[in-house]
Formats: sequence, structure tokens, C-alpha cells
Amino acid sequence: MIDLTLLLKRESEEPLYTQLYQYIKKEIMNGKLPAQTRLPSIRSLSAHLHISRNTVDLAYQQLLAEGYVLSKPRSGLYVMDLQLDTLPSSPHVRKQGSEDHALAHPSIQYNFRYGDVDAEHFPLATWRKLSNLSLQQNHQALFSYGDPLGEPGLRMEIAKYLHGSRGVNCSPDQIMIGAGIQYLLAVLSGLLKPDNRSIAMEEPGYDGARTIFQHHGLQLRPIPLETDGLHIQQLYESQSRIAYITPSHQFPYGMVMPLHKRMQLLKWAADQNGIIIEDDYDSEFRYVGKPIPSLQSLDSHQRTVYLGTFSKCLLPSIRIAYMVLPKHLLELHNKHNYRLYDQTVSRFHQNTLELFMRNGHWEAHIRKMRKVYRHKQSTLISTIQQLMGSNVTVIGQDAGLHILLRVHNGMHEQQLIATAEKEGTQVYPVLPFWAQQAQAEQSMVQIGFGGLSMEDIQKGVHSLHRAWFGESER
Ligand SMILES: Cc1ncc(COP(=O)(O)O)c(C=O)c1O
Repeated sequence: MIDLTLLLKRESEEPLYTQLYQYIKKEIMNGKLPAQTRLPSIRSLSAHLHISRNTVDLAYQQLLAEGYVLSKPRSGLYVMDLQLDTLPSSPHVRKQGSEDHALAHPSIQYNFRYGDVDAEHFPLATWRKLSNLSLQQNHQALFSYGDPLGEPGLRMEIAKYLHGSRGVNCSPDQIMIGAGIQYLLAVLSGLLKPDNRSIAMEEPGYDGARTIFQHHGLQLRPIPLETDGLHIQQLYESQSRIAYITPSHQFPYGMVMPLHKRMQLLKWAADQNGIIIEDDYDSEFRYVGKPIPSLQSLDSHQRTVYLGTFSKCLLPSIRIAYMVLPKHLLELHNKHNYRLYDQTVSRFHQNTLELFMRNGHWEAHIRKMRKVYRHKQSTLISTIQQLMGSNVTVIGQDAGLHILLRVHNGMHEQQLIATAEKEGTQVYPVLPFWAQQAQAEQSMVQIGFGGLSMEDIQKGVHSLHRAWFGESER
């Protein structure tokens, strides 16, 4: 089932239901919601957009009355076939397609490594079945290289998903698939380097991206964070024309950039003729508040490159990520022969993922994992609060698969890690995320919870409590 993501203007004189109705109508007319698409249920759309069921119901009733959708008993509302193909001017969606410290320390029992995901809920049987199916489908195609940008069918599924879940506006041919966000950032750095000498980045920020930019000869301009994300004035002052940011879940601090700041950032990009690189690495896991549309979806000047990955919600080992290029960068990509870079992801896995998405397993998996991780995160935080209370500060709990913990016991980062390790628990440093490490916070650790069971999360926190506050526990 699709999701619909739009920005409803509560202060507008136009009622919310009319705004929703107008949006869906437009999406049907421009082909983004093709015939036979099932609209989300009233319950799920009202929960997704944080509006009342009544509002959704009114919008749906209007669409029904005007013949844009039809109701199938016990099934839901479906987009009508309006024969849009016969209208000459309708712009359709194109139809084509750590370090592994714990290994070295076998005494580690509870590993709060960021990057691990929940293995128990991975739909292995379904994946196996679809892998087999994809092998049977088209032998000939599986024995050759494939499209350098990625399989058209998978890019089509990703375009649909991104539009529904993050409001991203793109055609499948703007999407490039690659073996991880880092690989795609390397390609992007190559594209941007001839016209740019520097890149602005959040400070602290994702070290995995920073290293790529440095390796490509881009000078770093670290931009400090405010409580709601990047300091825009300092971004202007940096004089860089490219900014790499994680607006929907700042890495590692975890703040979510509010709408007004997103608009300021887009204005910066339009003013500077600049490029925003939006890394939306874990947007599936937002636990508080309503979804904020991606920067890409708010950008009317084609200044945003949008990136996402299947590493968090599916599996990191699958190595599939995607990048949405604005048209002018796609042209540059063609012009400079980047199509000669062969695709880095196996066609087998691409085809399996396409089937997984097309048959509804992806949406179902996201819904399930959101519940699983929400539960794990609240267990982690409530156990921390219960045991350590005001002796610690939890940072970044609105979204994602990790938190930061500021510990008020006088120990610095390495002591916090070493004492935890003696108790059999691994936590991780935050220092590497700072480009200017002298300015880093000193008494903080990173705690990832994705890969641990609920029971191990609780036991792990008890062990951290013993390590840091020396309380004996019965
Ligand atoms: C901010 C951020 N972007 C990207 C990634 C990695 O994505 P991928 O596995 O697709 O390279 C990570 C992984 O930890 C991350 O923290």
C-alpha cells in the first residue's frame, strides 16, 4: 500500500480535508497515483499525517463523489482508470521501467553497536522465496551487466515509495542505485569537484561521509549545530556552495530540522546556486511528531540531491542505496561519461528487492520494524531513566536506531567505554564524528540498540549502571 506525504497548512483558510482532496486529485491527474492504486486506509492515513479520521473520510468522500476513485467492498478505495494516456499533455511518471571491537573482546555480552539491525524480524523465508523467483524469471538478463544506474524496475519501485513516504518528486531515471551511500557520495564528489573546492558539513557529522569528501580533495567547512540543526548564518559565511546534511535525523545528535529551517536552507541553496546533499539514511524510524517532508520535496529549484539506503530498515549486508539527482546533475553525469561506471549492486539482489517492494512486503516490513524499534528504544530509555535518572542526559530520542548519552560522573569518553567494557558491555565513542576534535563533548557515548533483544537492552543498561555509578545490584 502507498503512503501519501504532503504538507497541510493548518493556518490556511482552506479546510484540511479540501487540501488533502486537492492533493490526491492532482496526484491522480498527473499520473503519480496510477489507475488501480489502492489509497491508504482512513486509519493509517490519519495516523501518518496526524489529522483526524473525519478529515480523511471527507476528502475520500469528495474523490468518490467526483469519480476519481471507486470503492471495492471489504477492500478499500482504488484510483479509477481515467484513460489519462489518451490526453496528450498529461505529464506521466515514465513507465519503464567499528570497528569490530566485540569480536576482539569475547567477554563482551551486550554490544550496543550502531549499525546492527534486528535479525529476528527479517522476513528470511519471503526473501528466500523471492530470490528463487527472481532467478527463474529472466535467465538471459541475469547473465549480463545490466543498467549502470540500476535495474529500471527497482528504480520505479523506489520512485513510488519515495514519493509516498517522503514526498520526493522524481522520475525513475533520476535515480541511481549503488552499493551504499558512501559509494554514491564518492560518485557525487567526482561530479561536483570540477566546480567546487569545498563542502560544508554539520559539526559533528557522519565521519563516513567526511572521509569520502576529503579523499576527493574537497576542503571541509565544519558548520556548528544549533538545537534545531545547522547554523544557517555560518553556512552563508563558509562561502561553500555545497552542503551535506542529515536534516531528518541529524547524525549523531539526532535533532529533526523543522520546516522553517528547511525553507531557510533551500533559500541558501537558491541564493548561492548551491547544492544540498540530503542524507535521509533512517527516515523510516521517526517516533515523535508528524512526518516533515524531505528537503527534496520542498525544493522548487532543483538544488537538492536526495540519498537513502536499505541498510537500516532492511539489512546493511544487502548493500543497496539510492541517490536522486536533479536533472542538471544527471546531464553532467551523462556528459562526463559516468555511465561507464558499471552498476555495483548485483542484479540478483536488485531483482529480489524489486519483487519485495512490488508485492507489498517492504511497506509491511517498515510498519513492523517501526513498532519493533519504537519498543526497543522506549525500553532502553525507560531503563536508563529508571536506573540513572538525572545522572545522565539522553540525546536524540525522536528518531533512529541510536541515542547519545551524556554521563555526569566525571569520566571522559575513553573511561566510560573502558569501564563499561570491564562489565562486559560495549558502547562507542562520539569523538570521531567531530572534524575539530578539540571542540568535542568529552563525556558522551553512542548507544545503538537495533541489534539487541529487549532483554539484552535491559541487562546491558544495568551493566552500564554498575560500570559508571558503581552501584551493586541485587
Ligand atoms: C548518516 C549516515 N549516512 C549513511 C550511512 C550508511 O549508509 P550505507 O550503508 O548505505 O552506506 C550511515 C551508516 O551508519 C549513516 O550514519
